[in-house]
Amino acid sequence: MERLTSPPRLMIVSDLDDTMVDHHNDPENLSLLRFSSLWEEAFRHDSLLVFSTGRTLPMYKKLRKERPMLTPDVIITSVGTEIAYGKSMVTDDSWVEIMNHKWDRGIVEEETSKFPELTLQRDCDQRPNKVSFFIDKSKAQQVTKELYQRLEKRGLEIKIIFSGGKALDVLPKGGGKGQALAYLLNKLKAEGRLPVNTLVCGDSGNDTELFTIPNVYGVMVRNSQEELLEWYAENAKDNAKIIHASERCVGGILEAIGHFELGPNLSPRDVSDLFECKEDNVNPGHEVVMFFLFYERWRRGEVENCDAYIASLKASCHPAAVFVHPSGAEKSLIDTIDELGKYHGDKKDKKFRVWTDQVLATETTHGTWMVKLDKWEQTGNERKCCTTTVRFISKENEGLVWENVQQTWSEESEMKNDSNWII
Ligand code: GLC
Ligand code: MG
Repeated sequence: MERLTSPPRLMIVSDLDDTMVDHHNDPENLSLLRFSSLWEEAFRHDSLLVFSTGRTLPMYKKLRKERPMLTPDVIITSVGTEIAYGKSMVTDDSWVEIMNHKWDRGIVEEETSKFPELTLQRDCDQRPNKVSFFIDKSKAQQVTKELYQRLEKRGLEIKIIFSGGKALDVLPKGGGKGQALAYLLNKLKAEGRLPVNTLVCGDSGNDTELFTIPNVYGVMVRNSQEELLEWYAENAKDNAKIIHASERCVGGILEAIGHFELGPNLSPRDVSDLFECKEDNVNPGHEVVMFFLFYERWRRGEVENCDAYIASLKASCHPAAVFVHPSGAEKSLIDTIDELGKYHGDKKDKKFRVWTDQVLATETTHGTWMVKLDKWEQTGNERKCCTTTVRFISKENEGLVWENVQQTWSEESEMKNDSNWII
């Protein structure tokens, strides 16, 4: 978050399962990829991405390995009971203290064990400040009521949340996705970085609280659960800042960005001619996102095998531009592009995808830009990632000229050598 010196233009606070990630309808993750390229191209540099999930941190990391997910600026896990910042996920210790107020996990376990209606979830879904169960929908209301009374009598201040028609979480009263968001907004405000706009996105009961935070826009995705839609019908249907999207999952988030006019919502993935859409303003981040999209389409054989494309790419390279391959080998960037020319369609039908994450551009001296990003490449189930740095010079009337590209294997990469890695 520190990289932003002024208030973020947009803060998206999104649930993951069945909101960001479609578990039922999009095996190729196309909607997620559409969102990701839009975020990196148009929002990453001046906005904040927050994930708020019911998953524990280890289960979030697992999902991150399975799907082409971006790195959020803030990750709120375990139904708003844990907050961490940045790529290295630094825990918010003040939040931990708040979560321990009038909370005792032992007492919660003891009291809940008296309810045969409650079945404990797996160990990997339990956390110090989150005790999670399954329950039959028809029993949820009665058990919730009794449990509140019992735990109150034992001196605890807790909160019970019913989600997805079957999950019941017991949390500290100060926890939950809504409280965590309120805490984050307060923190940003105190730092003079209150977002200009905030959009919350969710699909189920544990997301309800997100929609109760004042002054935020909200989108319930099309595939929202009954308990969230019922809450909306009873409590918020006159709130024009909340919509029930007509698109599923992350498609609904794109829809909401458009509906509330929170910024551009045309994903670069929905642009057919990537070379046409040069911007007037110098935007090195855009240049890189577009290049790697072209790279994906070229290798998938989705663009015409036409020399003019390669020639145009070469024309935007400085003649002496150098590419440092992740293996350490140095090559001419123009030769590298020539080589790419030979790979047209080599990944056809191979479930090949490329995406960029954490694209951040800085102007080092006037007219010289450094863009840093993670470039991911996936073929089938195998994925690799290189931390990539591109140096551009911006010349009047010539646009951006690629001067240098340097790559190293990212720590997160499952493979750290590959002779077929082109760029
Ligand atoms: C996630 C968590 C689960 C929790 C549910 C509802 O699925 O893994 O433990 O009960 O969200 O909040
Ligand atoms: Mg969900």
